[in-house]
Amino acid sequence: MYNLNGKTILVGITGGIAAYKVCELIRMYKRAGANVKVIATPNALNFVTKLTLQNLSQNNVAVDEFDVEDYKPEHISLADEADIFVIAPATANTISKLANGICDNLLTSVACAYTKTIYLAPAMNCNMWENKIIQENLKKLSGLNYKIIEPESGFLACGYEGKGRLSDLETIFNATVDLPLKGKKILITAGGTIEEIDPVRYISNYSSGKMGFALAKAAHDLGADVTLVSTVAHENAIMVKSAEEMQNVVLKNLPAQDAVFMAAAVADYRVKDIARQKLKKVDGTDEITLTLVKNPDILKSICETEHSAIIVGFCAESENLLANAKEKITKKGCDYLIANDISRKDIGFGSDENEVHILSSDGGIEKIEKTSKENIAKEILKKIWLTNTK
Ligand code: CTP
Repeated sequence: MYNLNGKTILVGITGGIAAYKVCELIRMYKRAGANVKVIATPNALNFVTKLTLQNLSQNNVAVDEFDVEDYKPEHISLADEADIFVIAPATANTISKLANGICDNLLTSVACAYTKTIYLAPAMNCNMWENKIIQENLKKLSGLNYKIIEPESGFLACGYEGKGRLSDLETIFNATVDLPLKGKKILITAGGTIEEIDPVRYISNYSSGKMGFALAKAAHDLGADVTLVSTVAHENAIMVKSAEEMQNVVLKNLPAQDAVFMAAAVADYRVKDIARQKLKKVDGTDEITLTLVKNPDILKSICETEHSAIIVGFCAESENLLANAKEKITKKGCDYLIANDISRKDIGFGSDENEVHILSSDGGIEKIEKTSKENIAKEILKKIWLTNTK
């Protein structure tokens, strides 16, 4: 999760049933290290209690316009303090007041005094959402310093089905914080390729896909738009089997990417002639021969194709880790190579932990000590992306 240490988040809550969901949003900001201040409209307190909001935010909850904290009126001091200001849920009533400059409670007054972006997450009945006056007001606000986080469609608390449900909290969180990989497109491959022999048999390897999945999650959490290409089933993955299939998907998506992570274990060879029918046991012979032909080297082919992405390869070595890795980064032509030692049983293939060296094309080598694949993924993204200027 993103680090919001030192940031003050102002959460404005208005009087809609979705107010209860915003309790969890406050927790998400708190977990990320933020100082959270809450302004509730008097109507919001019909749906959640001041005590709940106070406990979750660990701050006093502001409701009344005339609670004077210091020499500045409260609506000015709260507006000055906030690094991020989000109003969730934003009711039709509050949206309309904001669009018309009405300041009849503390929240609308703070919003009027706030000069930076205000994130607005509307939630209301679907007919109210579609009402032309509300849509006109939202249009007016989007042309000003407001960013609208659109509601979702689905079953509404009022019993209707339609658009108007508060956007999911992760979407609100990601939209409001300045995630370092926001707007970046990252393609990640995962798992071992599956090279068919016949309709029931194949050649593959022990790759579990865990490193690729951990990278996909870490990149997503940092705001990236992730394309996961995998041989192992996983949420939102584009499923492929063979190296050739994987290469097609990767090359097709390459032009749009800002980075490609080839975490998949790609088979170097495939069966020359895949049998259409199941191969039968041959009586009278104890040996059969499968002829293998070389697979494309996907990583090399990416590096040789015109692109503007940071290209990261992975290598699993059972001996001479660094010497082999150094040779490989030059041979493949990638920007970075993540090397791990598969002779060790406690890390790498199938395990939840890893220990890697990050080699860069300028000769640099950095070690990430043994830790979970989740932490390795975060460290890789931090070292490669957040320090790269490409
Ligand atoms: N790779 C690839 N296509 C291949 C083989 C490997 O794209 N046909 C990629 C892997 O996804 C990985 C990197 O190349 O990111 C290194 O994989 P590795 O298996 O260590 O390298 P190989 O080139 O296969 O070399 P060798 O097996 O001989 O060590």
